[in-house]
Amino acid sequence: MNKAVFWLPILFFTVWADGLTIPSRRPQFQQVQGTDSGELLIRDLHVGELNFLHTTDTHGWLGSHLTQPNYDADWGDFVSFASRFRENRVGAESDLILVDTGDKHDGNGLSDATVPNGLESTKVFNEQDYDLLTLGNHELYTEENTILEYCSTASSKKFKDAYVSSNVEFVTNEGKLVPFGSKYRFFRTRNREFRILALSFMFNFQRTNTRAKVTPALESLNQDWFKEVIFKYPAENVDVLVVFGHMPITDPENREINQVHRRLREIYPETVIQYFGGHSHIRDFAVFDRQSTGLQSGRFSETVGFLSITDVKGNDPRFFRRYLDFNKNSFAYHSRVSQSNLATEKGSRISNHLSKLRENLSLNEVVGYVPNTYYMDTKPLRSKHNIYHLLTSKVLPRLKSQQTDNTKSRFIIINTGAIRYDLYKGNFTKDSEYIVSPFPNDWNYIEVPLSLAEGVADYLNEGPVLLRSMAPPSVFKRSRPGLCPFIHDPKRSKGYTTLDDYGCEGDDIPHNTEIYYDVPNVVQSVELKSGTEDTAHLVFYSFIQRDVVRALNALNRRTTVAKRHYSEKDCRQYGGHATKELLKEWIRDL
Ligand SMILES: *[C@@H]1O[C@H](CO)[C@@H](O)[C@H](O)[C@H]1NC(C)=O
Ligand SMILES: *[C@@H]1O[C@H](CO)[C@@H](O)[C@H](O)[C@H]1NC(C)=O
Ligand SMILES: [Zn+2]
Ligand SMILES: [Zn+2]
Repeated sequence: MNKAVFWLPILFFTVWADGLTIPSRRPQFQQVQGTDSGELLIRDLHVGELNFLHTTDTHGWLGSHLTQPNYDADWGDFVSFASRFRENRVGAESDLILVDTGDKHDGNGLSDATVPNGLESTKVFNEQDYDLLTLGNHELYTEENTILEYCSTASSKKFKDAYVSSNVEFVTNEGKLVPFGSKYRFFRTRNREFRILALSFMFNFQRTNTRAKVTPALESLNQDWFKEVIFKYPAENVDVLVVFGHMPITDPENREINQVHRRLREIYPETVIQYFGGHSHIRDFAVFDRQSTGLQSGRFSETVGFLSITDVKGNDPRFFRRYLDFNKNSFAYHSRVSQSNLATEKGSRISNHLSKLRENLSLNEVVGYVPNTYYMDTKPLRSKHNIYHLLTSKVLPRLKSQQTDNTKSRFIIINTGAIRYDLYKGNFTKDSEYIVSPFPNDWNYIEVPLSLAEGVADYLNEGPVLLRSMAPPSVFKRSRPGLCPFIHDPKRSKGYTTLDDYGCEGDDIPHNTEIYYDVPNVVQSVELKSGTEDTAHLVFYSFIQRDVVRALNALNRRTTVAKRHYSEKDCRQYGGHATKELLKEWIRDL
């Protein structure tokens, strides 16, 4: 197997930034087997003594990806899958635990077209019988979301034990701080009776609304509640520590999860610790030490993460991970049923409910037809298949001001966070709008020397992220690009080729590899008018005004083109339609 060539340097040692070298273990490999089609391969998974299915960052994507056949399963199919998988693969000899790590809205019409956001989608999400679940930062931006999450899920009859949050608190109507669900959960698994102690940590998120409070994970581990946990559940009484939460598994910048691990190892030196993470929207698996690994399962219902542990109580537990594509073919294959037998009664009921919900929310309403697919980061910025190229060349030039004339050269700058997802070929619906470009915006402008205006976009792209990015959910850079063997095979679906601490074969479907390109902070549309004066109109989202003014002054200090300082008072309203409206108009006019 030629793959070993690629693994050697990666697999046997994982070198952490702090210089610790930890031998990681050899992965277990399953025979690669053919699917029904006989041509496209699917990698099987290895069922262990203790098994997990993990979702994260679903962001309202409960109704499948209608324009991406590769992710054609909806929440009903996922519920069917979990139940068939338990029945046919896990059985009575092993155990299965279902985990989710938060961020359940902001990203799809099913969640975002209701008031409050998540009103209907939360009920659908909660149909899955999670054993462990928690919240993400997207449950903490608005008060109404936080209240909904607390009342409908964290303190619900179904989930009041399963919902764990060790470092987030809810603020009651009376202003009292109470745990957001349980602080921890201790339980025995159904079949093998493994003793599980579960903790859940949110990353250090400090922009919550007034109805919630996040305590940094390390700080919360020094509080009394944790001393009680250690006292009640010392190492000899715990088989597996499950630490799940809305925190990236690989975090080279803050190393928050590594600090948590170090602290937990002081108390549980030999215990198997299994992490489940989220927030950075990637597929990822990390080896922490001989008895500890972490799994992160992507985003937007594109992935179900599978993890198993064998020899749980032995000296040498073995871990196995697999990223399952969120589609019916994968679900049927892994649960050993034919696709026509995948749906359970409950699953079909959920799927039907979702179709009705789509209709009720008018998500299928067609705005127009998009003739090609436009990508955010899997085509280079200059490509005509790149969505930012589309915006700057076709969409933004349609902007018309009601406040000023158009005789001057014009630069229109937008931050790339304004786009949330690829724009797919096919019908553009009300749902597509929530998916691709949901944010409204106002335009402001400032008149400045042309030579200053020219430099602003580059300046903003040199720096770190903008003061206020339109984040939710932001585009994260893939941390370790390019090291897996590149697969070029047009017969396969485009998708992830994930590199993690066990190598390059984690994805259940070997995809036609996607290459990811860096996305800058901002992009601009430039219209130069010849023979006009040497000033230009610099047009931008009111939202990034502070960044633009800061850039102008910094550039001016370098060049002293203008003998003055700029302030936000120099900026004026430009008027015109928001980018999302301009995009719709462009699609309608095609
Ligand atoms: C759709 O709307 C109808 C009429 O208002 C209502 O009776 C039904 O319960 C709604 N269905 C869903 C799934 O929201
Ligand atoms: C696209 O929209 C048209 C009419 O607006 C409709 O007839 C057609 O069925 C839609 N296609 C899909 C794949 O939904
Ligand atoms: Zn997210
Ligand atoms: Zn998040």
